[in-house]
Amino acid sequence: MKEDCNLVQHLVDYLRKHSVRQVVVLADANVQALYPHYLSPLAASFDCHTIVVPAGEASKTLGQAEKIWRELLDRQYGKDVVMVNFGGGMICDLGGFVAATYKRGVRCVNVPTTLLAMIDAAYGGKTGVDVDHVKNCVGVIRQPDLVVPADVAFLQTLPVEELKSGFGELIKYAVLFSTDLFSELEGMNCLTANQIRPEWVAKCVYFKETVVALDPDDRSERRVLNFGHTYGHAWESLCAAQGNPVPHGVAVAIGMLYESRRLAHLGTMPQEDAQRIEQLVRRHFDVPEWDEPVMEQLNPYLFQDKKNVSDKVGFVEIHRIGGLFYKEV
Ligand SMILES: NC(=O)c1ccc[n+]([C@@H]2O[C@H](COP(=O)([O-])OP(=O)(O)OC[C@H]3O[C@@H](n4cnc5c(N)ncnc54)[C@H](O)[C@@H]3O)[C@@H](O)[C@H]2O)c1
Repeated sequence: MKEDCNLVQHLVDYLRKHSVRQVVVLADANVQALYPHYLSPLAASFDCHTIVVPAGEASKTLGQAEKIWRELLDRQYGKDVVMVNFGGGMICDLGGFVAATYKRGVRCVNVPTTLLAMIDAAYGGKTGVDVDHVKNCVGVIRQPDLVVPADVAFLQTLPVEELKSGFGELIKYAVLFSTDLFSELEGMNCLTANQIRPEWVAKCVYFKETVVALDPDDRSERRVLNFGHTYGHAWESLCAAQGNPVPHGVAVAIGMLYESRRLAHLGTMPQEDAQRIEQLVRRHFDVPEWDEPVMEQLNPYLFQDKKNVSDKVGFVEIHRIGGLFYKEV
C-alpha cells in the first residue's frame, strides 16, 4: 500500500506544532506486520519507540495496560510523551486508556486502520479494557488530542469479517442520522473495500463528533449511539460464551434488525422502515433466527446491559430512518 503522505505529514505537523520530542507508537502485531513503514516519517523527526501487542480483543486487558505502563516507565518517559495508537478499535481503546492514565494523562493521537475505528472507535474518547470477558468495564472518557483522518487504503487488507463489522456500525449511523446515506447503502450490492466511500466515513465522523459534543460524558444524547447494542451486546456475549465469537459490528447489525422489529411491533417505528433495515442487514449479514430457546439464552445477557434502569432492559427508541429522536424505553 502507498501511504497517504498528506495524512502522515498532518500528524508530523501537529507534533512539531506542539514541540513534541518523544513519541510512542502502539500497534497490534497484524498492523505492524502489514504496515511497518507507514509511520516511519515519525522516526525521522522525533525520538520514536514502537510497542507491539498481540492482535485481538484478548489484548484489551489491565495486564496488557500494565505491561505498557512499565515499558513507558522503564524508558523514563515523562508527561510530555505522545502516544500514537495505530490500529483498530482495540488499539484505540487500550492505547487511549494507557495514555489517559500514565502520569495522570499524556497526549494521545489515534491513527485508525479498520473501518470500525475510522467511523467510530477512534473518536469520542471512550477508552478502557475488558475484565474477565466483561467488555469495557474499566476505563475513562478522555478525548484524543488528534485523530488522523481515515486513510481508506487500509481497508484493502482488512479481513472481510472486519469490514462487515465496520459496515454494521456504518448502517447504524445511516439509520440514526441520514436517509440519504441509508439510501446510498441500499444501492450497494456487495460489500468490498472499494465500495466504501471516503465521504461516508466523513459523514459518520461528523455525526459521532456532533453527538459527543452534546454529551461527552455519555449521560444523555450520546446514548442514542447504542441503537442495536442492547440485543447486539447480548448476542456478542452469548456467542463469545459459546466459543464462537462474532465481531462487534456484526452483532450490532443483527441487534439493529431485531430492535427495529421490536419498535415496529410496538408501533414506534413504521413497519416499512423496519423492513428496509431488515433487508439491508440481511443482504450483507447472516442473520440467525432468534426463536424462543435462543431468546431464553439471551435473557441473562440482556439483564446485564448497562442501559438498564432498575430491572428493566433499556432500549434506544428511534422513530424512523434518519430522523433522530431519542428516548430510552
Ligand atoms: N471507544 C469506542 O468508542 C468504541 C466504539 C466501538 C468499538 N470499540 C471497541 O473497538 C474494538 C473493535 O475494534 P475493531 O473492530 O477495529 O477491531 P480490532 O482493533 O481488534 O481489529 C480487528 C482485526 O483487524 C486487524 N487489522 C486492523 N487494521 C487492519 C488492516 N488495515 N488490515 C488488516 N488487518 C487489520 C487487527 O489486527 C485485528 O486482528 C472492540 O474492543 C470494541 O469494544 C470502541
